[in-house]
Amino acid sequence: MSRLDSFLRRMGAQRDSLNWVAPRLEGLEGDVIEMGLGNGRTYDHLRELFPDRRIWVIDRALNCHPSCVPPEELFLQGEAEHMLDDLHARGVRAALIHYDFGSGTDMVDQAESRRLSPHLAQVVVPGGYVVSGQPMAGMTQMKGPDHVDPARYMIYQL
Ligand SMILES: C[S@@+](CC[C@H](N)C(=O)[O-])C[C@H]1O[C@@H](n2cnc3c(N)ncnc32)[C@H](O)[C@@H]1O
Repeated sequence: MSRLDSFLRRMGAQRDSLNWVAPRLEGLEGDVIEMGLGNGRTYDHLRELFPDRRIWVIDRALNCHPSCVPPEELFLQGEAEHMLDDLHARGVRAALIHYDFGSGTDMVDQAESRRLSPHLAQVVVPGGYVVSGQPMAGMTQMKGPDHVDPARYMIYQL
């Protein structure tokens, strides 16, 4: 498979996994946390899916498209681990975390996602979801949309 095909599949799996989880959040209280603002594409999608929820955004840099700049008070600039611990200490709880960190080097990215897993888990409400492009440790993966390869995009319910 060409890298272009692989990229398109990953983007499709990402969007379809978020769309699949969205109606399942009904009745669950909590905010949404976007980990990895990047260009702001998935943040923009989350804003469409969850217009009534507070969406926190974590990234070490603000480099997004001008139309996707989060409100200042909801953008947490810095290293994820500290930002998540800070949210936890402030009593923030999430019904959904979307994890989109990744450099393209599997070993490095997977070590990072596993290391960060407990920092994510502490802020997710019981029954809440983590949707992720990288594997998490200590969370039970569930089957998402039929056409999404569970090794390509992962859904966990806590
Ligand atoms: C793949 S990009 C996110 C793409 C974005 N979701 C989009 O749709 O445009 C990953 C982002 O995560 C950020 N990032 C990676 N590791 C991080 C960490 N440990 N703490 C904070 N930000 C991190 C990078 O700065 C980068 O902007």
